[in-house]
Amino acid sequence: MGELDAVVRRRHSTRMFLPDKPVPRELLDEALALAMRAPSNSNVQPWRVFLATGARRDRLGAALAAAVRAAPPPAMGIPESHNHLRRALGAQVYGAMGVARGDSEGRWNAQLRNWDFFRAPLAGIVCMHRDLGLPDAIGVGMFLQTLLLALTDRGLDSCVQVSTALYPDVVRVQLDIPDELTPLCGICIGYADPAFAANFLDIPRNAVADNVVVYDD
Ligand SMILES: Cc1cc2nc3c(=O)[nH]c(=O)nc-3n(C[C@H](O)[C@H](O)[C@H](O)COP(=O)(O)O)c2cc1C
Repeated sequence: MGELDAVVRRRHSTRMFLPDKPVPRELLDEALALAMRAPSNSNVQPWRVFLATGARRDRLGAALAAAVRAAPPPAMGIPESHNHLRRALGAQVYGAMGVARGDSEGRWNAQLRNWDFFRAPLAGIVCMHRDLGLPDAIGVGMFLQTLLLALTDRGLDSCVQVSTALYPDVVRVQLDIPDELTPLCGICIGYADPAFAANFLDIPRNAVADNVVVYDD
């Protein structure tokens, strides 16, 4: 197996970080520089990323926590056609956290950690210009995956989150995000807490043939 294969397989979502173990700035800068090599439609490089550490990161987490307390997030709807995958994921993740099926309070308490970026010391929001469209969102995704792999290769852990972007007004204020940018998702970066069992899951994938058709006629 090549080095790339190993890094792709090692990357996974971390949902509890060591808050006091900072991300070395040089590793972050290297990973960001590599991610900038991602392809994009007409090379528009549509990703706009706002990251925070220290006091600003803490203010962001506190503001999001207050927003969630004031108004629960809108339902992150997954169409019924795909919901079985979310249910399977939930069973695996919450199971590893020791939250029983049907324990809605336990689930909610676990979900709440989303809005403190799972304690990650480096956290932020990924945006795209409001005038851009679906092909450009592909470019943002390409940037993100390249970034995650570059971080993984440097021993760092991460999680992409839609949950924090569900409060666009809050993240705009805390990160000085201009009006023309639409928050797409959050990102957490740091070192995984080794004592948290749910950090070591291997979330299964469909068989290739479920998602890909290759005609050879
Ligand atoms: C766009 C996007 C949004 C996501 N949002 C969340 C989220 O809000 N909370 C969370 O815990 N995980 C979130 N995830 C992580 C996914 O659940 C995870 O990538 C998927 O289950 C596969 O697991 P793996 O990353 O460990 O391989 C998100 C991932 C992506 C790419």
